[in-house]
Formats: sequence, C-alpha cells, structure tokens
Amino acid sequence: MDRQSFARPARAAHPIVGPLSDASVAKLLDRALARGDERVLDLGCGEGEWLLRALAGRPGVTAEGVDVVDAGFARAREAAARMGAGDRLVLHRQDASAYTASAPFDVVLSVGATHAFGGLLPTLAAARAHLAPGGCVIVGEGFWERPPGTATLDVLEAAPDDYDDLATTVDRVVADGWVPVHGHVSTPEEWNDFEWAWSGATAQWALDHPEDPVSADVLEAAAEHRTGWLNGYRGTLGFVTLVLRQSP
Ligand SMILES: C[S@@+](CC[C@H](N)C(=O)[O-])C[C@H]1O[C@@H](n2cnc3c(N)ncnc32)[C@H](O)[C@@H]1O
Repeated sequence: MDRQSFARPARAAHPIVGPLSDASVAKLLDRALARGDERVLDLGCGEGEWLLRALAGRPGVTAEGVDVVDAGFARAREAAARMGAGDRLVLHRQDASAYTASAPFDVVLSVGATHAFGGLLPTLAAARAHLAPGGCVIVGEGFWERPPGTATLDVLEAAPDDYDDLATTVDRVVADGWVPVHGHVSTPEEWNDFEWAWSGATAQWALDHPEDPVSADVLEAAAEHRTGWLNGYRGTLGFVTLVLRQSP
C-alpha cells in the first residue's frame, strides 16, 4: 500500500495535517497576515492547505510552498484556481532545507515539519534566512505534556530529548532571538478530530470500498494508527503553534 492510499481519506476529513481546527488556523493566519499583501512561504507545505487558507479572501497575498512530496500539488493548484488565486500560488517539489528564493518573505510557515530541518531551532534558522525585515514566522512543533514513557517513545520512534515541555520549548525559542506574539496550544478536541481522521475516516473508507485492492491494508493501517495514538502518545505529546517576530 502506498502512503497516499492511506492519507487520502484522512486528508479529506482533516485537510490540515496536524491537530488544529479550522478556526485555530484562521486565527493564526489573521495574526500573521495583518496587511493582506504579504508574500508567504510554507516550508513543508504538504498539500498546500495553509497557503490556500492564506490566499482565500486576501487578493493581495502571494504564496509559495515547498515539499518533498508533490502528490497533492495538482489538487492545491486546482483549488487555488477555483478561488481565482491560481497565479498567486507557486509550489516547489524540493527538500525545504535546500530551498533558496530570489526574494525574502513577509511570513514564513512551517507547521509539523521541523523534522525536515533537524528540529525546532534549525527550522527557525531556516525561516530567519527567508524572512523580510519586520516579518513573522508561524511554526508548529510538538512538546511533552508530561514525561514520555517507553510506550510513547516506541510508537513515535522518538527520544526523550526530541521535545521539551511547553514552557521550555517557548523559552528556547525566546533565547534564540524571537518574540512570540501569539500562540495556540492544541486542545484535546483538536487532537481528537485529527487522530480520528487518520484512524476513523481511513477505516470508514476501507469498509466502504471492500473491492479496492488496498482496502484490507488501509483498514490494518488505520487500526495500527489508532492503537499507537491511544496506547502511545495520547495526552503525552502536545502541539504548539507559535507566531513569532524577531527580537529588536
Ligand atoms: C505533518 S505534514 C504537515 C504538512 C502541512 N504543513 C500541514 O500542516 O498541513 C509534514 C510535511 O513535511 C514534509 N517534509 C518532510 N521532510 C521534508 C523536507 N526535507 N523538505 C520539505 N518537506 C518535507 C512532508 O512531506 C509533509 O508534507
């Protein structure tokens, strides 16, 4: 089974690939896109969902996204075209850590993709290199709600020091020269919606398409995902999305 077969029903149910509601995403973008004519870059953009939402209703905004997987780029381009923003969205299939642009960006996003850079601070270093003076960053990263046990670490294939607690996470960002101007800590309801998209909507699709050759594999992967969440990281892994500006 290829990854897309499993991801398709989950993304259809929850297009943002992280534990954030539509309202939370809208609020974070509103904080970052105050003028409405910003140049926005998303490092690890996935299917471009954050960029599509940045473009929607903001006719002055232009957006670029970078991801190593381009499976959803056509869908994103079509969605942008439908909202009359087809000429304002550019997507690059590329390693985001190697991406170079000809001009800086007013807003640099990287949500749930810090692994592409080797962690939170390297992600912020990459964002800083793309940032125009006075610009801001939206970065989304995990943190430990409580110290992880073996079950959590095994499921996530993580080490205890891959993340810090929330206060330490924010302290490290501040010590790195950033001022948080807004932030959102994902709620249990947001985690619930996200995780049931990846375990429940996927299972639903498999049950509704028994004739599909990957149906059984999708059902098995959905069960594995659900078990990993419920027995592994539920309540232990948190997720924070910060809106950051550079310290003077
Ligand atoms: C959890 S998804 C988040 C997608 C999107 N930011 C969102 O919130 O919906 C992480 C994304 O990072 C991408 N990614 C992983 N390593 C990458 C790299 N080295 N360069 C660019 N993208 C990468 C993955 O392909 C995936 O689309």
